[in-house]
Amino acid sequence: MKQDFSALAKQYFTLGWCSFPSDEGIRNWVSHTLPVTKGIVNSAENSHWMRYQNTWFAGVNVLTNDAEGRVTDGPRLQGNITEFINNILHLKTDNLDKGQISVCFAGYPKPMQAETEATFRYRLNRDAAHLDGLLAVGLQRRRYLREPHSYILAIPLVESPKDAAPFVVWEKSHEIIKQEFQKIYNSIRQDQWHDIDVTQAYQEMRKHIFEHCRRVAISVSPGETYLVHRHCLHGMAPWPKTIPNTADGRMICYFRPHSIDIQSWLFDN
Ligand SMILES: [Fe+2]
Repeated sequence: MKQDFSALAKQYFTLGWCSFPSDEGIRNWVSHTLPVTKGIVNSAENSHWMRYQNTWFAGVNVLTNDAEGRVTDGPRLQGNITEFINNILHLKTDNLDKGQISVCFAGYPKPMQAETEATFRYRLNRDAAHLDGLLAVGLQRRRYLREPHSYILAIPLVESPKDAAPFVVWEKSHEIIKQEFQKIYNSIRQDQWHDIDVTQAYQEMRKHIFEHCRRVAISVSPGETYLVHRHCLHGMAPWPKTIPNTADGRMICYFRPHSIDIQSWLFDN
């Protein structure tokens, strides 16, 4: 029998995110993938992914999965969340990017030399809130829309304390961002979009969202997953000093496939 996704679809389209209950397909995928990810995180050749005095392993695209999420001889990524993406969003899960393995440890974030005081404070006080797809270019970190992606699919790999560096999202921010970007790009030829500097508009959008949208921390167990709309402002909360470290930290795999064109990124649901 087909699963009824109507309540989850309503939440996803209204708030910009939803989480999925534990699923056998996802549990299988996690149990197969976890030993591989531990090897990746602990390997000397990946030590350059450590940030903030070893409190965050950023691990962008480090997972060695194929386009359907298979790691070595493991299962493809398949479960309630992929069914939702395919049948409700009408988006693909068979052209996945290489997964990001993001691992936080106790004390995140600690200051990092390569970062300004203001950027560090933003990480500490505003969860480093950002929109994926807007690249920061040059020393001035001017923002351009350069990486259209379909969605953010998050798979926790280990159990970790609920308040230890959870993913955070600003609910309904996807509507604000979509409307504002549509206003900006509507009058501009599409082949010029990637050269439009949207830094100021982006900063104003973030400010408006901080003032008007509800900040929600999402923390679920392995086997469960969550999906975040590509237009949602999101980030990562600090690991409170009162929570001790855990053996594997807070380890999450994210997929953000660049599987839609820029027009669909802006206008589709
Ligand atoms: Fe992100």
